[in-house]
Amino acid sequence: MTPLISGTASALRGRLVAPGDKSVSHRALILGALAVGRTRIGGLLEGEDVLRTAAAMGALGAGIARDGNGSWTIDGIGLGALAEPQDVLDLGNSGTGARLLMGLVASHPITTFFTGDASLRRRPMARVAAPLERIGARIVARDGGRMPLAVIGASTPLPIAYRLPVASAQVKSAVLLAGLNAPGETSVIEPQPTRDHSERMLRHFGAAVSTAEEPDGARRITLQGQPELRAADLLVPGDPSSAAFPAVAALLLPGSEVVIEGVGVNPLRTGLYETLREMGAAVDFGNERMAAGEPVADLALRAGALSGVEVPAERAPRMIDEYPILAVAAAFAKGRTVMHGLGELRVKESDRLGAIAQGLAACGVSATIAGDTLTVEGLGGPPPGGADIATRLDHRIAMAFLVLGMAAERPVRVDDGDTIATSFPGFVAAMNRLGAAIAPARP
Ligand code: S3P
Repeated sequence: MTPLISGTASALRGRLVAPGDKSVSHRALILGALAVGRTRIGGLLEGEDVLRTAAAMGALGAGIARDGNGSWTIDGIGLGALAEPQDVLDLGNSGTGARLLMGLVASHPITTFFTGDASLRRRPMARVAAPLERIGARIVARDGGRMPLAVIGASTPLPIAYRLPVASAQVKSAVLLAGLNAPGETSVIEPQPTRDHSERMLRHFGAAVSTAEEPDGARRITLQGQPELRAADLLVPGDPSSAAFPAVAALLLPGSEVVIEGVGVNPLRTGLYETLREMGAAVDFGNERMAAGEPVADLALRAGALSGVEVPAERAPRMIDEYPILAVAAAFAKGRTVMHGLGELRVKESDRLGAIAQGLAACGVSATIAGDTLTVEGLGGPPPGGADIATRLDHRIAMAFLVLGMAAERPVRVDDGDTIATSFPGFVAAMNRLGAAIAPARP
């Protein structure tokens, strides 16, 4: 555990390349490993979470290597040919890696054991186990469907149509990945749209995935099973969820002007930027282009006053990982910000709803939770800060409060900066290059 302290920063200036998208990186490794032939991946996020998925795909039989120039090659093994891992797959802190891989192995006649760190072992896996059991897999888990658990894959997997009971791209993706090795059509019906990186990536590798609207307005995603996946090089876009931290820091520190290059701007991921604009922020998307079926842009940010807003529950799936940093922005804004529909934050890397409210209170900001609504009373300027924040194995809590410390009256300390490497390796150096003052703190 390396504690970090974030003191008053100068105005942020400069350009930054966002680290690779975590969601896209997991999917690129998984599908590259199932495609026949060699896939080259540029811009892969080399964060702990993604490295765990790479190791897991290696244990399932794929040949995965990093080149000297930082790109990765995968020698795919073809669909249906996964090898039974000889040891437990340890997905570390990664809910995405764990849930997607549970789906993948569920339709293969192998038994796979999964575990993770203390955070992941607390998170609910029954939401994935339920549809996978309908496909024909058996899941043996600890109480509450928690890890460690074993997935005993189906030898004759069934195609299913599954309506998501929670808005979760991980559950959707687990079902679609399981459906790859099932005959016929596997469908997922999502009442609220969630990030569609799996659908886009499946198409990139040659699978047939269609979407249609249900009579009640829900989205039905249908995959044709047993496709021939073909190797297909790709460049991973920058992660809008990681870019959110320097972006909000730039908005909060007077005089800042920052450009973040190559950020994924998939409309199902950009809820934060939409909300920041509503709060009065200067956020521009320039040089929009496509990379591996995903829209990408350079984000330009200029500091300025923000005002509190009401964020509707329907927007939550499009910015689910951004509430910690949005709550920080809300603390500096003039007036109240009310964020609805945050129930899922209770089961992220930590209970993020509790972590945000407690952390803000420690920094002198009033934040209250009522049901799944979070209300932050903005101070219309810098909060006192001067707090010590418990990170709770949650990278986004760590980064959000380090950003708060950059623009608060007094420095903010987080008890564990190591966890940041799960999604944003090099965060401290990148922020300090722009003008931050983040340094190791005394334990
Ligand atoms: C992710 C989906 C989201 C998100 C997570 C990444 C994905 O989780 O919070 O960081 O890559 O599919 P849920 O599916 O649980 O909402």
